[in-house]
Formats: sequence, C-alpha cells, structure tokens
Amino acid sequence: MNWEKELLPYHQATDELKAKFENIALQFERVEKTTPIFSVEARVKTVPSIISKAHRKKIPLDRVFGEIDDIAGLRIICRFVDDIHILTKLISERDDMKILLEKDFVNTMKPSGYRSYHFVVEYGLNTAFGKCSPRCEIQIRTLAMNFWAVTEHSLRYKYKGVIPETIKSRLVKAAEAAHALDSEMNAIRDDILDAEKSAKSREEMVRDIIHNIQELYGVSEMDAAQEMYNKFSTIWDVRNEEDLNHFYSDIQSIAQVHKIR
Ligand code: GTP
Ligand code: MG
Repeated sequence: MNWEKELLPYHQATDELKAKFENIALQFERVEKTTPIFSVEARVKTVPSIISKAHRKKIPLDRVFGEIDDIAGLRIICRFVDDIHILTKLISERDDMKILLEKDFVNTMKPSGYRSYHFVVEYGLNTAFGKCSPRCEIQIRTLAMNFWAVTEHSLRYKYKGVIPETIKSRLVKAAEAAHALDSEMNAIRDDILDAEKSAKSREEMVRDIIHNIQELYGVSEMDAAQEMYNKFSTIWDVRNEEDLNHFYSDIQSIAQVHKIR
C-alpha cells in the first residue's frame, strides 16, 4: 500500500477544516468581539498508529480507511460549555461536512471521566488526483475538559493502558472538579464576556487616539498634534478611565474639524 498517497486526502481535509474553523473564529471576533472557538488543532494519524489501531481492533489493513474514523482528526477548544453548543449547531447547519456520527460525552460523561462532543463527518474534496470524501473526527471540548483529557491520556501512556484503580478514581474526582469549574464559569459567562468587551473597547479607544494624533501630524497641524500628544501622555500615566473618555471625545471633535476620519 502506498501510505503516503492514501493519506494525502486526510492531510488536505485537516488543513482545509482547520482553516475553515479559524475563519469562523475570526468572523465571530470581528463582529461580536468574542468567539466560541479558543483554538483549533489538527492532526493526521501516523502510519504506525494506524497499523496498531487496526491490529487492536482486528481490522485488515486493506479496510483501515473505511473503518477507522479518526485518521483525520480535528480538535476545537472552547472556553465555555455554551460555546460547544454554538459550534454543534453551526456544524449541523453546514452543507460542506456531512455528519455520519454524533456522540455527546458532554452531557453524558464516560466512566473514565472523559467529556467532549464528537462528530464523525464526511468531507468532500478535490485533490490533485480527483475527488474524494475522507472522514474526519471532530472533537469539541472546553479548556477544562481538554486539560483533563490530555493529562489522562499521558497517564495511559505511562501505565501502558492499565491505569491503577486508585489513580482511576482520583481521575474521576478530578473530572468532576473540572465539570464544576465549567459549570461555574458558564454561569458567570455573561459577566466575564462584558468585562472583556469593555477592556477591549479601551484598547480600541487608545488605538483611535494614536491614529488621530498621527493624522493631525499628517495634515500639518503640528501644534495641535503636539498638544494632544502631551495631554495623552499625562492621562496615560495617570490611568484615569474618566479622563481618558473625555480626552477621547475631545480628540474625536478635533479630528472632525480637521476632517480626519
Ligand atoms: P477509539 O477506538 O479510541 O476510536 O474509541 P471509539 O471508536 O469507541 O470512539 P470514542 O468516541 O469513544 O473515542 C474517540 C476518541 O475520543 C479517542 O480516540 C480519544 O481521542 C477520545 N477519548 C475517548 N475516550 C477517552 C478517554 O477516556 N480518555 C481520553 N483521554 N480520551 C478519550
Ligand atoms: Mg473511534
């Protein structure tokens, strides 16, 4: 079997899907100033790992591409549990990935403590050698769920798949703690997001102020620009929110007089 050629569509699928979800994140960020996607990871299973999974699941090598769902894998990390629901809705409404399988381990935790939302999708491609529709496993989980899963996964490695009972039960307790953290963060989500938005608008205000001062220099209003720059430096040093707001509206009116923006 020419593994390299067989795996090409899986590489293309993960590349394209990663780019698509990163664009979704960017669009949410631009319009809503916040995004349900914290990060996107993509990977294609290595050949040794495909072979060992086939061996474990007693799948003949000529059937691995039909029977192993996670040769292409995408992992979307969110901050809040509600973000997972935004994404599952979004994925189910798209017509460029066909859902073959859906597993909700978010509401129903696995006995190990694992939580995550899984899709297996079929993703249509045009490659250098024609069309095909590889499958891809998409895992959606919060940062807390991911922290747990990654840690538990490394313990599985350490104990070669057989985690001692005491550690197993401690992992279940840790999963419950992560779950409690997720619930609490989700409950105060609106407050957290509001606070982030106002911090961001301050950042935008400062960016506008600097832009306007530069523009004043640009239209040769050197004295006005210098005066504004001095005032801004003082306000910036003192870090008084109210002064900054006043200064912002002052500089907006001055900019208008000079037809900046
Ligand atoms: P696999 O044979 O691993 O594919 O399991 P499955 O076909 O029964 O599918 P399932 O949806 O249960 O798991 C798919 C993937 O989710 C796994 O390959 C892991 O990446 C992840 N996963 C599932 N259960 C656990 C778990 O208990 N711990 C961790 N760390 N990851 C898990
Ligand atoms: Mg699987």
